[in-house]
Amino acid sequence: MDRRALDYLHAMGIQPWAERRVAVEVLTPLVPEEPITDGGPGWEELEAQVRVCTRCDLYRTRQNPVFGVGNRSAELMIIGEAPGAEEDRRGEPFVGRAGQLLNEMLVAIGLAREAVYIANVLKSRPLQNRDPRPDEVAACEPYLRRQLALVRPKLILAVGRIASQNLLKTDTRIGTLRGRVHDYAGTPLVVTYHPAYLLRTPLDKRKAWDDLRLVVRLLSGVA
Ligand code: URA
Repeated sequence: MDRRALDYLHAMGIQPWAERRVAVEVLTPLVPEEPITDGGPGWEELEAQVRVCTRCDLYRTRQNPVFGVGNRSAELMIIGEAPGAEEDRRGEPFVGRAGQLLNEMLVAIGLAREAVYIANVLKSRPLQNRDPRPDEVAACEPYLRRQLALVRPKLILAVGRIASQNLLKTDTRIGTLRGRVHDYAGTPLVVTYHPAYLLRTPLDKRKAWDDLRLVVRLLSGVA
């Protein structure tokens, strides 16, 4: 087993590991961000739109919209479900316990959190973390699509059943969606388990590792 696999197993709490020696390479864009001139909003305008968005009722109860974070020229875009309580409080995706595990999963494949772009299907928190409603997803999707158009990643990693099914417009089980390359708005998309689920179901961490290896292969162009 190579070091990356061992690092992953350690990060996921599968095997004891004495020392952590992960060299995290933060991939920064070599060229400055260029203005996108296709007529849609740029980053600043888009973020301003989300800040005052009232397209669904979730704005009434949110503390902060959670726009997205990370490298706006990333090769990998992570898409989750919706902000939880901590994300709503801080205005940043994946900053709670699940976010910590997500960070460790990324480190295990040599990517710092800052190297990827992270967003959610919904920008506002559903109370009690209930599942997003179809009308909420539809109202929010143009923001996500615009983020995707601006980042232009090589690959999307959808985390969790809710994100995967909503992006792919399907009821298919996540276990069936995994392990294949799908398409979302012209960008290849792969699916893995949500880190919150993995915290509850550690036995599935090995499958998540297989998903991450697929991500690595696709990013390096060998899958
Ligand atoms: N779960 C998600 O899907 N997204 C977040 O931002 C936090 C938890």
